[in-house]
Amino acid sequence: MSFERTHYCGELRSNHIDETVVVCGWVHRRRDHGGVIFVDLRDRTGLVQVVFNPEIIQPQSFAEAERLRSEFVIRVEGKVRGRLPGMENPNLETGAVEIYAENLEVLNAAKTPPFAVDSHTGVDEALRLRYRYLDLRRSEMQETLALRHRIAKLARDFLDAQGFWEIETPMLTKSTPEGARDFLVPSRVQPGEFYALPQSPQLFKQLLMMAGMDRYFQIVRCFRDEDLRADRQPEFTQLDIEMAFVDRDDVMAVNEGLIAFLFKEVLGVELELPLRRLSYQEAMDRYGSDKPDTRFGLELQDVSQVVKDTGFRVFSQTVQGGGVVKGINVEGAGEKFTRREIDELVDLASSYGAKGLAWLIVTEEGGRGGISKFFSADELSELFAAMEAKPGDLLIFVADEYKVCSDVLGRLRLYLGEKLGLIDHDTWDLLWVIDWPLFEYNETEGRWEAAHHPFTAPLPEDLELLDTEPTRARAQAYDMVLNGTELGGGSIRIHRREVQEKMFAALGFTREEAERRFGFFLEAFDYGTPPHGGIAYGFDRLVMLLSKKSSLRDVIAFPKTASAQDLMTDAPAPAMDSQLRELHIRLTPEAEKRVKSMDQDEDR
Ligand code: AMO
Ligand code: AMP
Repeated sequence: MSFERTHYCGELRSNHIDETVVVCGWVHRRRDHGGVIFVDLRDRTGLVQVVFNPEIIQPQSFAEAERLRSEFVIRVEGKVRGRLPGMENPNLETGAVEIYAENLEVLNAAKTPPFAVDSHTGVDEALRLRYRYLDLRRSEMQETLALRHRIAKLARDFLDAQGFWEIETPMLTKSTPEGARDFLVPSRVQPGEFYALPQSPQLFKQLLMMAGMDRYFQIVRCFRDEDLRADRQPEFTQLDIEMAFVDRDDVMAVNEGLIAFLFKEVLGVELELPLRRLSYQEAMDRYGSDKPDTRFGLELQDVSQVVKDTGFRVFSQTVQGGGVVKGINVEGAGEKFTRREIDELVDLASSYGAKGLAWLIVTEEGGRGGISKFFSADELSELFAAMEAKPGDLLIFVADEYKVCSDVLGRLRLYLGEKLGLIDHDTWDLLWVIDWPLFEYNETEGRWEAAHHPFTAPLPEDLELLDTEPTRARAQAYDMVLNGTELGGGSIRIHRREVQEKMFAALGFTREEAERRFGFFLEAFDYGTPPHGGIAYGFDRLVMLLSKKSSLRDVIAFPKTASAQDLMTDAPAPAMDSQLRELHIRLTPEAEKRVKSMDQDEDR
């Protein structure tokens, strides 16, 4: 090997004592102790202490050592010695030894870095992303990327052993709708036309089943132009899977095997199989969420029937108008919470979209505070029975449409679970959510859309509803949920043309539109399509959860910010006029003005 490196820094132990070694790496820290210089040398395996003693080392090398500063890249040749008794460093894996340098070569000097590699706490994330290559030198980041590599390798090994082939699908393609905006790429050769970057390989993996590949997987980049959050990136990675001649249980069984294998190998955790299954309806009813965190209680109760004839008109009128009243028994919080904390809950509820949050505290005598005055003693005791309430509990209620009640209380539930310390962060709560609705109403756009994607098959018993009442049809879809995060989702697919056409029609596509967008796909149905189904995991999310990180940015080498920017390369960036001309693209006056003003900012 060049540089004649014999060991990695972090490998050296007592059994290397008296060996002459060559190590290469970065100066982590340098200390001067009365003429003797100590350097902690770092590579991706860890740190080792190097001693530069003027009595041992060549004078020229010692002069070089005096010049060393943090992040210099050096090569050191020297002898491993045991540290003097009492001088061992138990915090360092290599703490029993040190290298007495005989030769030093500075391979590259370094400017003072904008932040110290060993302490990132308090460093602004924007600065870390701007100098990502420095940020990635931190052991924590290197360990995460090593883990990411390992999970990918294990997944490949498992799937390979089960007969899956990894097959690549195109990045420059036609739109694959998954509910987000497309990223478009203009064609130079076909002026005025655009490729779309894939939101997922959905259509291609189905075409691979039609092509007889039987079992496919891919670790693949997907692109979605959507509002970003801590668990969303504009480009992210899926572990994507598809299988032919399977039903829902077959796909779920293979995937339980895969996830159990990863948990065992990565965490040493044995999962209990089969995983629990909740229907979508039950998840919404009990947890107010389609990705329920079931590590704690605080379940939602429907008290509509109990309150529909009471004197509290907010409740009775809501129920009589077709809405519902749902509540949570926040056990013990009636005694624990201050009035201010209750008011905070009310404010949160309205920020989540509720018209109000009704509350009362359960006492030995009956109810206290909030809405208690609106109920008779009998009504209260009925309400307490329905809520399984006892003195000291705080009851909170939302009266509204089912969807609003579920959503608001579902989010309050998560807030309360965290606030009351009810969540055991050392457990792994994995479950399937099944029997999704096929369609879901998009409030902002005022239309029905596919709850998963338009290629998801209805439950066989709901097939007829496609003609009569499509919005009531349920899907052969399943999501895997881990600790309240949607880890992956998939479905059995439609494999007959007439069903696919009905689906497009129910989504409001005209025949022509369906033909224009998906003609190639519909045509493929005519040539022999096997029944098939699959799933895709958010691979970044999987790594994030297994490594207990709170942001996807911590598990992606070069991530984007919440405004979809790469602070290191400064992408996106204006294109040159000549490039735009070649692509037959002209900017709008507003865009042009914006780009010009960016230019001026740079000149200054
Ligand atoms: P879906 O749209 O549910 O399904 O995506 C699958 C999984 O990908 C992850 N994910 C994301 N991760 C990071 N950033 C994002 N912007 C992002 N969007 C999604 C989630 C999600 O569960 N083709 C279907 C799968 C199938 O039916 O087989 C699909 O893409 O963890
Ligand atoms: P009001 O009669 O409007 O003063 O409301 C009485 C209580 O009911 C207040 O505490 C409100 O916050 C609460 N409230 C009002 N609307 C709703 C609603 N839709 N759901 C739950 N509580 C509500």
